[in-house]
Amino acid sequence: MSKILVVTYSFTGTSTRLAELMCRSRVWKSAQVTERSPRKHLVTLRCAIDSLFRLKPPICYNGPDPAEFDLVVLVAPIWLRRVASPMRSFAASFRAVLPRVAVVSVMGGSGGQNAAAEIGSILDKAPLMSTTFTMREVEDGSYASRLLALATAVDAATDGSAVLRPYELSPETAG
Ligand SMILES: Cc1cc2nc3c(=O)[nH]c(=O)nc-3n(C[C@H](O)[C@H](O)[C@H](O)COP(=O)(O)O)c2cc1C
Repeated sequence: MSKILVVTYSFTGTSTRLAELMCRSRVWKSAQVTERSPRKHLVTLRCAIDSLFRLKPPICYNGPDPAEFDLVVLVAPIWLRRVASPMRSFAASFRAVLPRVAVVSVMGGSGGQNAAAEIGSILDKAPLMSTTFTMREVEDGSYASRLLALATAVDAATDGSAVLRPYELSPETAG
């Protein structure tokens, strides 16, 4: 069975709720990213400035070594149509040890699709898969079926059953 780790940064708790359901549904391990200096003043403005300038604030990582896993699911909110800055910091700091990743973003309503592209450019490899949920979907519970479908897809992609062999791409290259 594949080893999957779910790494979450959440500012107001929505991403954490989503990550908890995903981990419970599959018995996957979870890990948390937090900021080393929690924001106390002008909180929203500072989050926005981080996003605007693509800053990477200092973080703490509480979890197992990502290198021990087959795939890491990154879960984070969207700030100013970009991935929240602490998750940007995590991706940059752990770039060398991260295996394949999937990206799940949580947003108010727009910009979620940018998270996978940004993580892909930091890691210099495209995420295996990505999806976005709205805060409202998480709050009213309607996100659950799509989230569980994503978890099933992650399992299928990592257990070896979804391999595309060279001869399926081009019979001439199969040798
Ligand atoms: C500074 C800041 C900027 C945000 N920018 C966006 C945005 O560009 N697009 C969007 O859809 N939601 C935006 N949001 C809303 C969050 O993405 C949304 O509330 C998310 O569910 C929060 O996740 P969390 O509870 O895990 O922190 C922003 C929130 C903050 C605090």
